[in-house]
Amino acid sequence: MKPLEWINGKLKFLDQTRLPLEEFFCETDDVLFVAKAIKRLAIRGAPLIGIAAAYGVALASLSLNHSMVKEARSYILSIIDILASTRPTAVNLFWALKRQRRVLDAWQTDSISDLQNNLLNEAKQIHQEDAEICERISSFGAELLSDDCSVLTHCNAGALATGGRGTAIGIISKAWELGKLKHVYIDETRPLLQGSRLTAWEIDRAKIPATLIVDSVAAVLLKQGKINAIIVGADRITMNGDVANKVGTYSLAVLAKHHGIPFYVAAPVSTIDAQMSTGKDIPIEERDAREVTELFGKRTAPEMVHVYSPAFDVTPNEFVTAIITDRGVHRPPFSDSLKRLSLRGELVG
Ligand code: MRU
Repeated sequence: MKPLEWINGKLKFLDQTRLPLEEFFCETDDVLFVAKAIKRLAIRGAPLIGIAAAYGVALASLSLNHSMVKEARSYILSIIDILASTRPTAVNLFWALKRQRRVLDAWQTDSISDLQNNLLNEAKQIHQEDAEICERISSFGAELLSDDCSVLTHCNAGALATGGRGTAIGIISKAWELGKLKHVYIDETRPLLQGSRLTAWEIDRAKIPATLIVDSVAAVLLKQGKINAIIVGADRITMNGDVANKVGTYSLAVLAKHHGIPFYVAAPVSTIDAQMSTGKDIPIEERDAREVTELFGKRTAPEMVHVYSPAFDVTPNEFVTAIITDRGVHRPPFSDSLKRLSLRGELVG
């Protein structure tokens, strides 16, 4: 299942807000439509947001013609700014835009078609690389899991969120293929239900035995000894190993520590922010109050109630057992292992 594809000069993407009721694909050549799709979570998940933004820049360049060499650079820069303003937390967005900015900076000729080809090739490269990255993360992660294990996951870090089989869900599906996995518990993931709408849909298609729970049931299952590991994705990891991910992740990490089970974070190295030393500086997106006060368009809270709805939380590094990346498994102290990655030039910051 491909949540996003480049077809004949257009970006085709699955509108994830319509799942699981409808598999509805949009096709567009309009970068502003792509920016809006990222903003309204039709395209979502850290790696996929980055891939979509990279294609967005390529799409924008296609609207240039050969008489526009002079204004091309400032136009593409303005598009990069628009895409960068869609969602603040997932660093993959800024990472992918930075790659496109480098392509723009390297453009020396006066040929608009050179610029168009280079931007499209870079977007395709980012997309293809992500599929390989997911495979590597999945293999590293599946190896870590004990035989016959049951895992819990939160939000959606699967094929719908990436250019490949997923990060956390990639590990889960790989472990299933290897005969190591017994069961998956899926957090519903309030308020936008990425767990029940998206992860349950993906896991069902993969025919992996699974149980959907409301978020607050996780503690009960852990107490009952039904879960052997928790695996989640990430939107941004800072150099000390703090992890921003879908709100609700932090409480799971605390629960995991209390119950003595491993808490694994799976993410490509592009999710590591080499410029940020601790999680306290991560910008956290706040969502519209109506996502909490309404259910399917119907009000479920009084009109005047005040709402606080951060889309993400930050899990302090001391609760993280390991960070599973495409460049291997990192264990505490994360500042040392992530610094080594940075020194080897494997982090683009
Ligand atoms: O708001 P969303 O649905 O974009 O949030 C997604 C998550 O929090 C995922 O866990 C994260 O992006 C990792 S996706 C491989």
